[in-house]
Amino acid sequence: MPLDGIGMNGRLLVIGALNVDMVVAAPRLPGPGETVVGSHLQRHGGGKGGNSAVAAARSGAAVRYVGAVGSDEFGTTALTELHAEGVDVTDVVVKEGSATGAALIVVDAAGENQIAVAAGANEEVTARDVAVAVERAQGWPSCVLISTEISAAAVAAGVEAAAMQGWLCVLNPAPVTADTCDLLRFAPIITPNRGELQDLYRLLGGTGDASVEAMATAVASRSRAPVVVTLGAEGVLLCSAAGVSNRIPAGSARQVIDTTGAGDTFNGVFAASLAGGCDFTMAARRGVAAAALSVESAGARTSMPDASDIDAVLSSIGAGV
Ligand code: RIB
Repeated sequence: MPLDGIGMNGRLLVIGALNVDMVVAAPRLPGPGETVVGSHLQRHGGGKGGNSAVAAARSGAAVRYVGAVGSDEFGTTALTELHAEGVDVTDVVVKEGSATGAALIVVDAAGENQIAVAAGANEEVTARDVAVAVERAQGWPSCVLISTEISAAAVAAGVEAAAMQGWLCVLNPAPVTADTCDLLRFAPIITPNRGELQDLYRLLGGTGDASVEAMATAVASRSRAPVVVTLGAEGVLLCSAAGVSNRIPAGSARQVIDTTGAGDTFNGVFAASLAGGCDFTMAARRGVAAAALSVESAGARTSMPDASDIDAVLSSIGAGV
C-alpha cells in the first residue's frame, strides 16, 4: 500500500546541539590509555540535534532549528549544511568568540563507536534563546524534539514551553542528567536508549536488575506519557503510561558501516512522523526503518534516507498503513 503523504507535512521544531564530527575509522575502539591507528581523518556534520533535524527534513517534515554555533569556520559549515538540507536556521544563535561544538569519534570495523564531545557553543544556548525562538514559532510546530546535549536551562525552557503551548514534545535524554527527571512532570515522550533508561530508572529510585519493560513502565508512569526505548539491532520498545508495551523489530541493514547517529535518525523521523499525524506505532516503524538505513555509510548523516526510501522499506515488510 502506498504511504505517500504520511509524515510529509509535519512541522517540527528541533532544539539541540550542533557539532562538527572528526572521525577516525579504526580496526577496534581504544581501551583506557591505549592508542589505535586508523586511516585518514574524516569530517562530518554532527550533534544529536543537527542529525535529528536532517533526518526529519529528509523524511519530509518542515524543520526549524534552535541552537547555537561559535563564530568560527566550523559554525559556518554547520549552518551551511543544515540550510542545504532545507532546515530553517533563523533561530540558531552565533555566539561571538565561542567555539562550535566538536565531537571526536572512533568507529570500529563493526560500525560501533566511541564519542567524546567538546560542547562549545551548545553549552551557551540560554533559556532566553529558546524563549525568543518559541515566541517566533507561535502557532507553527505540531511537535518539538529536544535533546539534552545543550545547556540544562535551554532544555528546561524548551520542555516547559512545549507544555505551555500544547505542542507534542519528544525528549531525547542523551545524556541523562539529574534535571531530566524533573522535566518528566511536563509529560514529554521520552526516547532513551538502554543505558539512558537505566540511568533514568536509578535516578527515579529504581534498584536491582529490572527488565527493559519494567524500567520503561516505571519511567512512563512517572511522566504519564509514552516511553520509547531504542535498542539498536533489537529495534524499539514502546511503553505506555499504563504499562502496555509493544516491540517493533529493527529493519535489517544491508551492511553496518557506522552506527553513529542511528539513534538521532530514529528520533528525527519518529518526531517528524508524529508531527505529520502518524500514530505512535507508525511513527516508531518509520523511525526504525530510517535508522536501519542510516548505518550503511560512514558519517552520521551520509546515508540518512528520504521519505521514499523509508516508504519502500515499510512496504517491503508489509508495515504500511
Ligand atoms: O549521536 C551521534 C552524535 O553524538 C554525533 O554526531 C556527535 O556529534 C555527538 O553529538
